[in-house]
Amino acid sequence: MFVSDLLKDKRVLITGGGTGLGKSMAHRFLELGAGVTLLGRREEVLAETKAEFDRDFDGRTATASCDIRDPEAVEATVEKLWAEQGGLDALVNNAAGNILAPSETLSHRAVDAVLGIVLHGSAYMTLACGRRWLKSGTAGNVLSIVTTYAWTGSGYVLPSAMGKAGVLAMTRSLAAEWGGRGVRLNAVAPGPFPTEGAWSRLVPNKEIEKTWLNRVPLGRVGRHEELTNLAAYLLAEQSGYVNGEVVTIDGGEWLKGAGQFSVMDQLSDEEWAAFRPKKG
Ligand code: HXC
Ligand code: NAP
Repeated sequence: MFVSDLLKDKRVLITGGGTGLGKSMAHRFLELGAGVTLLGRREEVLAETKAEFDRDFDGRTATASCDIRDPEAVEATVEKLWAEQGGLDALVNNAAGNILAPSETLSHRAVDAVLGIVLHGSAYMTLACGRRWLKSGTAGNVLSIVTTYAWTGSGYVLPSAMGKAGVLAMTRSLAAEWGGRGVRLNAVAPGPFPTEGAWSRLVPNKEIEKTWLNRVPLGRVGRHEELTNLAAYLLAEQSGYVNGEVVTIDGGEWLKGAGQFSVMDQLSDEEWAAFRPKKG
């Protein structure tokens, strides 16, 4: 769908790039000519993904082990990447944590664990990269992966909903503040895209999964390539006038959930016929 060198020589840092959607995005960016740095806590996971990528894209994948909840570790990691790579062109805030639970059962440590990754971690990463771009006067691009419940809210994932809402607010705030100085920020809000990390934590059983996915008008989950192509577009110069935007990619899921009468798709033709007023 794109020219093969769309992201040629772009240096992209992807938090959570060793697994799931982060890994899929990294793979697509490599296909389009970028160099990627995969950041995460688990070194062995990063090394495994790098080895896999190196078979096809020799020498264009780097790794950085870092807990983004730790501001000093973030600063040191970003400083090292700047020194080693001569700067970066884009940051993808993709790392996240999530806990599915009745909110009243969450301890303060559970709240902090998720907000620390989603909200604080994304802010630390964005500020560490942003201030370097502003200082050197070079262009920068931040893409944050949020969710549709960043604006609707959602029961049972409270800290994640709070954190993603904050990341969206950060995106819009800094798009206005930094846009004139060459740094643009956008977000993508995916619906359900199966990954081991999300499914193992967020899908308690097959039955609830079916009920959950039935809410998607398109009748299916997202394909990773649908998301990775959208992300590639938002990182490319061709999307240069898009700033402060959040693009939803969820098959219409959240709108259907919001529409008061959308559940009527459960009625059969016979039930619709019986409901229609009789003539005369
Ligand atoms: C209640 C829980 C819990 C649960 C953990 N805790 N899981 N409480 N219900 N299911 C509590 C713990 O008991 C502890 O509190 C506190 O949370 C911290 O837990 P730790 O395991 O010590 O934290 P840590 O090792 O830092 O792990 C962080 C994590 C974990 C967020 C809990 O899940 C993680 O590392 N996640 C990263 C990857 C991830 O979440 N991927 C999914 C993203 S998907 P106490 O008080 O006992 O010490 C996503 C998609 C959304 O966001 C939309 C999908 C459609
Ligand atoms: P995932 O595979 O679990 O990805 C989470 C990644 O974040 C992991 O690689 C993890 O690596 C990293 N991470 C977590 N805590 C970290 C920390 N403190 N420091 C550094 N890295 C950390 O889940 P995913 O489904 O691909 O999710 C990716 C993104 O998409 C998330 O932002 C998620 O909210 C969003 N999203 C996903 C879906 C979906 O359906 N899958 C829907 C909407 C939004 P380590 O554990 O090694 O650190």
